[in-house]
Amino acid sequence: MSITEKVNLTTGSGWGSGPCVGNTGSVPRLGIPALCLQDGPNGVRFTDFVTHFPSGLAAASSFNKELIYKRGKAIGREHKAKGVHIALGPSIGPMGLKAKGGRNWESFGSDPYLQGVLGAATVKGIQEEGVVAVAKHLVGNEQEHFRQVGEWDHGDYDRLDSSISANIGDRAMHEVYLWPFADVVKAGVGGVMCGYNMVNNTYACENSYLLNYLLKEELGFQGFVVSDWGAQHSGVTSALSGLDMTMPGEVFDDWLGGKAYWGPLLTRAIYNQTIPQERLNDMASRILAPFFAMKSIQLPSEEEIPNFSSWTHHTYGQQFPYQHYGAIVQQNWHVDARSEINDEIGLELARQAVVLLKNKNRHLPINKDDGVRRLLVAGLAGGNDPNGFNCRDQKCTDGTLTSGWGSAAVNNPWVITAQEAISKKARERGITLDISEDNWDLERTEELADFADMTIVVVNSASGEGYIDVDCNYGDRNNVTLWHNGDELIERVTCHCKRVVVVVNAVGPVNMEKWIEHDHVVAVLFVPPTGQFVGAAIAEVLFGEVNPSGKLPFTIARKNSHYVDIRDSLGDCVDPQDNFERGVYLDYRFFEKHTIRPRFEFGHGLSYTKFSVSDLDICEINPPAEYLPCPPDYLPLSKTIQDDVCDPEDALFPHDEMDPVPGVIYPYLYSENIRSLEDDDCYDYPKGYDPDQKCEAPLAGGASGGNSALWETLYKVSAKVTNEGSMAGNYVAQLYIEFPSTIVASPPKVLRGFDKIFLQPNECGDVEFDVKHRDLSIWDADSQQWIIQTGTYKLYVSTSSRKVELCGEIEIGC
Ligand code: NOJ
Repeated sequence: MSITEKVNLTTGSGWGSGPCVGNTGSVPRLGIPALCLQDGPNGVRFTDFVTHFPSGLAAASSFNKELIYKRGKAIGREHKAKGVHIALGPSIGPMGLKAKGGRNWESFGSDPYLQGVLGAATVKGIQEEGVVAVAKHLVGNEQEHFRQVGEWDHGDYDRLDSSISANIGDRAMHEVYLWPFADVVKAGVGGVMCGYNMVNNTYACENSYLLNYLLKEELGFQGFVVSDWGAQHSGVTSALSGLDMTMPGEVFDDWLGGKAYWGPLLTRAIYNQTIPQERLNDMASRILAPFFAMKSIQLPSEEEIPNFSSWTHHTYGQQFPYQHYGAIVQQNWHVDARSEINDEIGLELARQAVVLLKNKNRHLPINKDDGVRRLLVAGLAGGNDPNGFNCRDQKCTDGTLTSGWGSAAVNNPWVITAQEAISKKARERGITLDISEDNWDLERTEELADFADMTIVVVNSASGEGYIDVDCNYGDRNNVTLWHNGDELIERVTCHCKRVVVVVNAVGPVNMEKWIEHDHVVAVLFVPPTGQFVGAAIAEVLFGEVNPSGKLPFTIARKNSHYVDIRDSLGDCVDPQDNFERGVYLDYRFFEKHTIRPRFEFGHGLSYTKFSVSDLDICEINPPAEYLPCPPDYLPLSKTIQDDVCDPEDALFPHDEMDPVPGVIYPYLYSENIRSLEDDDCYDYPKGYDPDQKCEAPLAGGASGGNSALWETLYKVSAKVTNEGSMAGNYVAQLYIEFPSTIVASPPKVLRGFDKIFLQPNECGDVEFDVKHRDLSIWDADSQQWIIQTGTYKLYVSTSSRKVELCGEIEIGC
């Protein structure tokens, strides 16, 4: 490929300049079309006839690896059907450090192990369906405030000089934030997106230590790094620091301005040798690698292009709608990407995501024979949003929540609201039902509650991505309080009805202290954003057609002060610093360390049946070694790509072949670029930069996902689960490990396995966990390696992070 052809792959052609949210340039000579990058993690964004799948958080609540893999496949199939080449998901960061973090609902809960296993299952699923997955956001994007200069003009934003810096210690980086990225790299993920934030005071997308060393060297990532949209802040530095693709092409906040760090300037930097051509070859190889490395993914032909436009719902429109340029052409083919199987997967996952937090005296499932003949469904969050199912990017919150807002939102083809689904079930059972949707004028609700045998109060709380504010929640939530007067609604209803079931439809933890212990609050469900299926899942659980099996993928605290706060004001500084002071003590690990009793702990979730767990078995498969073996040397390069030494005149805009579209980014030089080529002095590479390949891998590295010994199973752990109740149901067994403190103190418990099993009444079955080398390792920052400490490891097979069923030990000697 010529220099301009390679550059064309690295640089987005500009916001709105192609059908997808990100479009690379094409290489017509080789039949490579512009590659389409489209959100996102929960389904295909900005189009019609697609499924709105349960969110990452909902997937995590199910603790069901197999189902999440199927969800990944379904999401992959729908992207494929729409002509997307590269799907911008899964989200495995944020890690859920902050309860109010706006985008926690996109990823898989507040634990690195959970995020890693579920991220990898999703990547496998998407890529097996022929679409490249992009894991995001690397790394530390734990809040939306201050993620980009110029995003907002309220409050402190006008003084903001740089994005917030996530300051992460080396141990927490390895054991928490980078951990799931190792899983997805091991699973063969094609792309990784670097985030908006800085990491230890260097922008993530130009952080050589993060991209070149941690990701590419230590984790052995061989795919491409793409910037988040506008997260690139330099040309040469980002290129040398390991960024391979910039999106959407132009600099942040100058959409359509045609100003880019790369494109023509990357071409110039190659010609004047500021950037070694080898680096460009590496970028292009990395971008194309996923299309050759996996049998399931083929490089698209010129015909295999998107059949939709992100920018209009109409069938026909101008070719470049944002640029107001070009002929009227067909933009949308309205291809139906949905299928019965995808619906089944979505609905099943939604059911399994519902978490039963409280069920006093077994008032649930609803039973007419228990005297529930009159139902009231109260709360606007149970009904239709008056703005419809599809506010742009799902920023409407005045009804049943299907998702948070932002780029991970998907258009709903329809929505089953809680009211609709509950009404249907009530009718079928001869139960009478009334509704009340006013959350402020509560007299009528009180009147209705007086007559109800049971009131189901549906309440919500939402958040989303930082470019949208809802009611002054700038992406992140301002608090963990229920929205729309939810607390008062519950309190007032409890004064009038003795059986109140609260359904919390929310993006994360909410404070329940005002009402959770009230005698009349007989049951509480937590329902994360579950896409279009939300109401169906709620009703099936309420009426006992489905036995709840969801588990909380985060902790709900009793006191707000137990959560990590959002950094939302600048104080005297202009470059906000966010020190991740919790270190490796994330979520339940913090509560356990300080023996703080949460309201509901990580992993908690009740069932309508009773399970017993017995017969713990721990079997050594491979003997544990304290230190990792040295990885093999890298293979010598079998081929080096010849540098293109053509005349810069060859890279001039081919005016005889085409006219430039205003605002579109091209790789070509303009004559003034050529003139400046001659002026450029010899450029010194940044200190420490070495274009030559090293021949020794770091001890922690050497293979995809890091040193291959890390992935060896050392122990197989199993236990027997028996369903002793009268209802069939799923059981989630969780394995927590307590490490010895020979070298360094560790959290009292860390999740290191989970398994879900479905059992009929009186049936028993085995749950199994593979404990890998990495699962017993700590990151030793001094020696820069993973070490298995000698000593006693306690293994807890548990029903939640606090409820241990079985306990065993592993002794590792020197
Ligand atoms: C910004 C978001 O942070 C990212 O997750 C998304 O993929 C891009 N925008 C593209 O929409």
